[in-house]
Amino acid sequence: MHRKRTWTLALALGAGLFTLGSAHAADSAKPKYTIEEVMKALHKGDDAIGKKVGKGQGTKEDFAKLVEYYPSLALNKPSKGDLAAWKEKCNALTASAKALKAGEDGALEKYRKAVNCKACHSEHKEDKEHK
Ligand code: HEC
Repeated sequence: MHRKRTWTLALALGAGLFTLGSAHAADSAKPKYTIEEVMKALHKGDDAIGKKVGKGQGTKEDFAKLVEYYPSLALNKPSKGDLAAWKEKCNALTASAKALKAGEDGALEKYRKAVNCKACHSEHKEDKEHK
């Protein structure tokens, strides 16, 4: 009796994991947020999360937000600039966000280096009236 239940459970779990796995593969092809949405969520304004984190005042919730939004950047294509260079910058942001969340040594320095607004905008952001 017990044995049968265990097997059913294992099978159900296996099927669940498989479904999760394929859903994840589909996710990684399509970004959850646009570049604009990420900028608005993390960078825009004087009280932006990114600025707070850069000052060393980030909370656990802030780090979680960074980890939620940054991975979408690399899956978007910027309207300007070299795609490989773009991905490298975005992946550095994601990696530093994950390091912050994990509380790793040097994570804040990594983040400050990666979140260079000007360096990225001058290469990848279309010039409008101002930068
Ligand atoms: C890894 C590259 C990258 C970094 C780093 C970056 N940005 Fe951006 N940002 C972009 C790109 C690309 C756009 C243009 C998005 C578009 O128009 O689709 C943009 C657009 C914006 C916009 C306009 C969004 C809107 O409302 O249309 C703001 C504001 C902005 N960034 C602020 C910042 C600030 C502040 C920082 C630094 C704390 C920063 N960004 C760092 C790539 C970056």
